[in-house]
Amino acid sequence: MKILVVYYSRTGVTRKVASSIAQTLNADIEELIDTKKRAGPLGFAVAVKDAALKKIVPITPPQKNPGDYDLVIIGTPVWADTMCTAVRAYLTDCGKDIKQAASFCTTHTSGIEQANRQIADIIAGKTIAAAGFRQKHVKRDEHIPVLDAFLEQIREPQGGKDTSAVE
Ligand SMILES: Cc1cc2nc3c(=O)[nH]c(=O)nc-3n(C[C@H](O)[C@H](O)[C@H](O)COP(=O)(O)O)c2cc1C
Repeated sequence: MKILVVYYSRTGVTRKVASSIAQTLNADIEELIDTKKRAGPLGFAVAVKDAALKKIVPITPPQKNPGDYDLVIIGTPVWADTMCTAVRAYLTDCGKDIKQAASFCTTHTSGIEQANRQIADIIAGKTIAAAGFRQKHVKRDEHIPVLDAFLEQIREPQGGKDTSAVE
């Protein structure tokens, strides 16, 4: 199975999970680049607003065509209880080309189910697995059991069940 991992990461948490998924599944990987500055307190505040308003902010054109893959795994940080703007822009533009998807989010505490559900909505329910990871668990490498359950779902899909890490 040809797999692509597509993700956005502002501070590295989602990147860490995405990289380990790509390595484990021998998948290609694509990092989405937001065209809007997201660094610093102002960048954070604007990002919250853009995400809450579900704005489509342009991203740098992706290098890989999702239509070339059997499965696309989408990774996003939770922003304002939804997906980040770069992932929303990507799915709005390329979602139609995705044959089958899985999604995961990283978060401080909230928004995992909403973000995964909204990703599934944009790509018309083509998700076969979903997961969520608390940033503190990722930073301490305590996310491995949830990651393993997510990879198991991908190998043996059961209809997009959410293996949320949130207690
Ligand atoms: C703009 C913005 C909005 C966020 N909104 C939420 C939120 O609604 N709920 C939450 O628990 N964490 C929220 N967070 C925290 C991130 O989801 C969390 O730190 C994530 O793991 C960061 O991933 P990254 O390092 O890949 O960017 C927000 C972070 C940012 C930058």
